[in-house]
Amino acid sequence: EMLEKGGFDHFMLKEIFEQPRSIYDCMRGRIYPNEGKVQLGGVKEYVEKLKNVDRIIIVACGTSWHAGLVGEYLIEEYARIPVEVEYASEFRYRNPIISEKDIVIAISQSGETADTMAAIELAKEKGATIFGICNVVGSSIPRISHAGIYTHAGPEIGVASTKAFTAQVTALTLFAFYVAQQRGKITESQLITYLTELETIPSLVETALKSNELIKKIAEHFIDSRNCLFLGRGSGFPVALEGALKLKEISYIHAEGYPAAEMKHGPIALIDEEMPVIFIATKNSSYEKVISNIQEVKARKGVVIAIVTEGDITVKNMVDYSIEIPDTNEAFLPLIATIPLQLLSYHIAVMRGCNVDQPRNLAKSVTVE
Ligand code: G6P
Repeated sequence: EMLEKGGFDHFMLKEIFEQPRSIYDCMRGRIYPNEGKVQLGGVKEYVEKLKNVDRIIIVACGTSWHAGLVGEYLIEEYARIPVEVEYASEFRYRNPIISEKDIVIAISQSGETADTMAAIELAKEKGATIFGICNVVGSSIPRISHAGIYTHAGPEIGVASTKAFTAQVTALTLFAFYVAQQRGKITESQLITYLTELETIPSLVETALKSNELIKKIAEHFIDSRNCLFLGRGSGFPVALEGALKLKEISYIHAEGYPAAEMKHGPIALIDEEMPVIFIATKNSSYEKVISNIQEVKARKGVVIAIVTEGDITVKNMVDYSIEIPDTNEAFLPLIATIPLQLLSYHIAVMRGCNVDQPRNLAKSVTVE
């Protein structure tokens, strides 16, 4: 087993460190930065449908649902198609309004999640076109879908999803640009710029992983925390949700993710010197707003850990702990900002003596309702 873990203490850590590779594998053969082109062989047959579709519905569970939320930002921003993201378990039981005009995307690492399968069976009955974004090749969801995109992250053993999540986000990024290109919502020169930067993401993830030792030191301060709040805006919001899910799954510390601006409608009541608040505070369109949210937390003596853009002194000076990530286009932020949150949860859980690869009560694949 030690051999399988490739010298890492746990599968989860190995899989976190595999992300430069798994993200690369997901993009390989699909992007052509010099030509400003994305190719997705798996959905090519449905290109006419994609050009004319009025909305896309994404169904998924757990971490895959968080990837779906990132996908919503990307598809709406670049392809300009309205997207709804649904928990598969809710969607299947609420007589959803759906027709042959719709495209339903099911996101699933395992390709076997019972609720997600039932949701797509239902959508299929109503005539929708089904795309699967799955990791396990030949699993059930790709088989019952009309078309799809494999994420090619490789086998994921840790129950808490890490590299499968970033691969799903990568696949959704490719999809958003592919559809944008097909619908004429993006110019070739814009695509050249985006894809050239996308191609550098594996090496930026590598850079983000270099904070591992620092994150381990920060983690020491939080092993006795009972609650934790994760806040972000824009596509930083699903990153916050995923950060909170990771922490609760493996460390059993109660954690919640919130859109930063919603803090004042509830979570702010919880803030005191015992409450760690983790902010995605990178330099993007919501930077200034997030800074004022940080000030609100500091004014109430909250302990702040901020994920910041490399070289950002302003936020660093305001907070208790900061973790730098390399600067990137906002479109790719979730791929980078997720990395330190995975590491933070991992180290906190290990120091608390938890079984990070097989947390209590959780299963890698939920094949029953
Ligand atoms: C379980 C796993 C999660 C996963 C979710 C959905 O809860 O523990 O890591 O995100 O199922 O699984 P799927 O295979 O459909 O992505």
